[in-house]
Amino acid sequence: MNPTGRRTFLRLIAGAALSGGILDSLSRKTGSQQLGSASTQTLDGLKLGLISDLNGSYGSTSYSRAVERGVALLLRQQPDLVLCAGDMVAGQKRSLTNSLLKAMWAGLEQTVRAPLQQAGIPLLPAIGNHDGSSQKDQGGWIYGRERQQAGLFWHENRGDLQSGFIQSERFPFQYVWRRPGLFLVVIDASSANVDSSQRRWIEAALNCTDRQPDDLCLVMGHLPLTAFSEGRARSGECIANPQELAGLMRRGGVDLVISGHHHAWYPSESLGLRLLSLGAMGSGPRRIIGSSVTSPPSLTLLEWSRPSKLIRETTIDLNTMQPMDSDDLPAQVSVSGFPVARRRSLQWQSGSLND
Ligand SMILES: [Fe+2]
Repeated sequence: MNPTGRRTFLRLIAGAALSGGILDSLSRKTGSQQLGSASTQTLDGLKLGLISDLNGSYGSTSYSRAVERGVALLLRQQPDLVLCAGDMVAGQKRSLTNSLLKAMWAGLEQTVRAPLQQAGIPLLPAIGNHDGSSQKDQGGWIYGRERQQAGLFWHENRGDLQSGFIQSERFPFQYVWRRPGLFLVVIDASSANVDSSQRRWIEAALNCTDRQPDDLCLVMGHLPLTAFSEGRARSGECIANPQELAGLMRRGGVDLVISGHHHAWYPSESLGLRLLSLGAMGSGPRRIIGSSVTSPPSLTLLEWSRPSKLIRETTIDLNTMQPMDSDDLPAQVSVSGFPVARRRSLQWQSGSLND
């Protein structure tokens, strides 16, 4: 069987293995016309699963039921790719031994990455503070061993990503990945410090000659450009000096900036950019600032139609398995010392924000 045939076969098997209830329910609830799925090999569209913040408590090697439900949903929905905005394991504690760090990554492999890969769905990571924080002290990494183990795991498991790499020297921390119709820049926002060297790299990546004019351009990093949730509106929880970074992303024609860490779903516009704060797939749900409601565990499906350039986002509550309604979110998030974020539509056209 050739690779394409095998991929399609595996997807059919994965789809058949799960009940049709969720997919049918989602289609009815959203009136959603499936833009992607296996037919995206024709390049008429693309379907992405967007997940973030899977980890449990420090040192945990297992995952919550919400994460398991999310993986099952992804297998059922059969996106072309799954992007993870970080915090896949439960590190950021210096007392964790190398063997426990390896066991945590093995847990991710068993529960999340391998099932997706076996269904022909690549998982593309961004590194979070619990995976391998870029925090430094006196010029050295505070969590150097964690960064080393994260690097080892992803280098051992980069096989199904190989064909898409445009730049991979600093994979999995910073890299550029492309498939027809999608140009992805992954940044190391595993701490608030996205330094000048990385900013120059991001600017060059966005202007890379491999990028095609009609590619959907996504930037993904763990910490966001502004504050979304209660308890995260403070130094160290958002990228420092976001205005300059946002400026180079605007000039670079970025369609969407995807982040995690704030454990609350909020699709917004801020700093002249379209942002998407992902809810946590795992534990630690938080309230959006100005809201009385805690953001449940969730994942987001993003469907892109190439002919119309139309993007549609659907975010699924992993407790109820129902789509979430953005009308329930505050119209804006405004907190002193951080750029204002205004709630935006879940349907939009690529390239449209600054036209
Ligand atoms: Fe985080």
